[in-house]
Amino acid sequence: MEGTVKVRVPATSANLGPGFDSMGLALQLYNELTLAVAAGPQPVVEITGEGAGVLPRDRSHLSLVAADALFKRAGQASPPWELLQHNCIPLASGLGSSAAAIVGGLFAANSFLPRPFSREQLLELAIDLEGHPDNVAPALYGGMVICCRDGERWRTLQVPLSGGLRLLVALPDLTLSTGEARRVLPEQVSREDAVFNLGRAAALVAALMTGAENPLTWATEDRLHQPHRCPLIPGAAAALAAARQAGAGGAALSGAGPAVIAFWFQREATDQRAGKIAAALQGAFSGAGIGCRIISTSLDRRGAAPPG
Ligand code: HSE
Repeated sequence: MEGTVKVRVPATSANLGPGFDSMGLALQLYNELTLAVAAGPQPVVEITGEGAGVLPRDRSHLSLVAADALFKRAGQASPPWELLQHNCIPLASGLGSSAAAIVGGLFAANSFLPRPFSREQLLELAIDLEGHPDNVAPALYGGMVICCRDGERWRTLQVPLSGGLRLLVALPDLTLSTGEARRVLPEQVSREDAVFNLGRAAALVAALMTGAENPLTWATEDRLHQPHRCPLIPGAAAALAAARQAGAGGAALSGAGPAVIAFWFQREATDQRAGKIAAALQGAFSGAGIGCRIISTSLDRRGAAPPG
């Protein structure tokens, strides 16, 4: 096997309020991987950016675990890989860094196979490895993706979104593992809460497709996970309220948190909301004694792809 493959994988924001474990969208914030076969018998891993010095630099790196799993599924022996990775997606923040690592490893290693897997097969493999379809599906396909379990397999549907969607992410200076953020969730929910979320998830999709701004405020409310998770994240509940107050229709925990995502439709160049929403998010977290970084971004429509 010869050659070098480059792939760029977007960050993702899952749940979007009411769509717990069922929907997510891709952001223009990327990790870039370069994969080749190592010259010697040992794997080589070099990481710059987010997670450098923290992420493993051997075969246990998630991208290489994914690359090896893909080769195993193809019935091929894995070579020792050389992986160069530049990360812009913060770790353990609710922005799909693990999904991006896995999707990147699968996508890149796939190019080395004589008969590469389809994107649908890559999705199944990625979900097996990561467990969260609402992060891996948008990381692989781009845009907004709805994911539904159907027995042993997954159904996905890309949502054609209206243009002009603006996204701001507030990243508080704390980490929260997805495991911890799932442990606080109840096993059972009431019919009233299930119905509360059903209507809102459907309305959210309709609003994002048509660009209807006003419904975003109520269509991003949730009773399945945010009420249980916000107490783990000082300032998060205040940040959701402050973002709406400052003019963001949509405001939600990003994935399992701790990041918060705010979104709205920007139609006029003179729309000044971004600065106000950023200040409101920062103010809410600092009111809880937590520093936070603001990332201004927009929707990624390509998903995992060669850069450029
Ligand atoms: N839907 C998953 C959760 C996403 O909320 O736990 C994990 O990033």
